[in-house]
Amino acid sequence: MEIIEADHLSKSFGSFKAVDDVSIAIKEGEIFGFLGPNGAGKTTTIRMLTGVLTPDTGSSRICGIDIHKNPLEAKMKMGIIPENGTVYSDLTAEQNILWTAKFYGMDSVSRKKRADEILSDLGLSERRDDIVRNFSKGMRQRISIACAIVPSPPVLFLDEPTGGLDVYSRRLVIDTIRRMNDEGSTVFLTTHNIEEANELCTGISVINKGVIIATGSPEKLKKSFDRANYVEIAFEQPVSRELFTQGGISRAEPHGDKWRLYTDDPDKTVKYCAALAEREHLRILAVATSTPTLEEAFVQLTGGA
Ligand SMILES: Nc1ncnc2c1ncn2[C@@H]1O[C@H](COP(=O)(O)OP(=O)(O)OP(=O)(O)O)[C@@H](O)[C@H]1O
Ligand SMILES: [Mg+2]
Repeated sequence: MEIIEADHLSKSFGSFKAVDDVSIAIKEGEIFGFLGPNGAGKTTTIRMLTGVLTPDTGSSRICGIDIHKNPLEAKMKMGIIPENGTVYSDLTAEQNILWTAKFYGMDSVSRKKRADEILSDLGLSERRDDIVRNFSKGMRQRISIACAIVPSPPVLFLDEPTGGLDVYSRRLVIDTIRRMNDEGSTVFLTTHNIEEANELCTGISVINKGVIIATGSPEKLKKSFDRANYVEIAFEQPVSRELFTQGGISRAEPHGDKWRLYTDDPDKTVKYCAALAEREHLRILAVATSTPTLEEAFVQLTGGA
């Protein structure tokens, strides 16, 4: 069964279409990554899925429950970590968790036990009695996550859970997401970090300018990126761009003192360059073949937005 389902969601702000006909189907047990550059429409989509925003068109369901027809029932199924995490600044770290647990109707013994567990998992045990107001961004983000996972919700929505975190906090957050998933939560997260999505997610959709432009497993998406190979070559003499229209080269870009030659067939391109150098009496200073990093591929896919 699809645990998160959205059909044809669209949302405009004035005449600007922020989300354009987005459909999503996520199976139970997945860690789904919603990937896109700044302003792509990730937060707007998450807000519609979690019932914060009403879509202009389309509908969505969590565990089969329509979020706009039965918002309360649907919301009991989800934990939400919004873009700018919400925490109670005047409470201590532990009080934030205990209060949330009480809200979900847990008894006092389970509340205490759950708070101990979560504080330890998120590296906050030593700060449990400190007022959250004075916490750093990374610590606040972890408190926000701590509160969202208190009831072990079937579905977790995280809007850029690792944005702005240092390596240590990031690791704690990623481990916590994995553990929640192991314990049965389906996860929907947004990120613009493709390496993170690759490391964590079972499925990915890439959104750009409000439209989903690619969907699949990280491996599948990587394969489709991998075709975009390039050969980087430096000559001692200046070379004009017109010489790079053959040899399987789809595009030539100057990069510092080198040319970056995009190609589907690096073998053909390297042989062509060698022949070119021979014919034009050019001296090759350096040559390297490379597949772009996933990040470069992402920039290409989203048109450098
Ligand atoms: N309440 C609003 N009123 C007007 N425009 C809005 C509103 N909310 C979002 N937008 C616009 O919709 C577009 C998508 O915004 P959104 O916040 O969904 O992007 P995002 O993918 O989450 O970006 P980021 O990575 O920066 O968080 C942006 O151009 C934004 O300015
Ligand atoms: Mg956002």
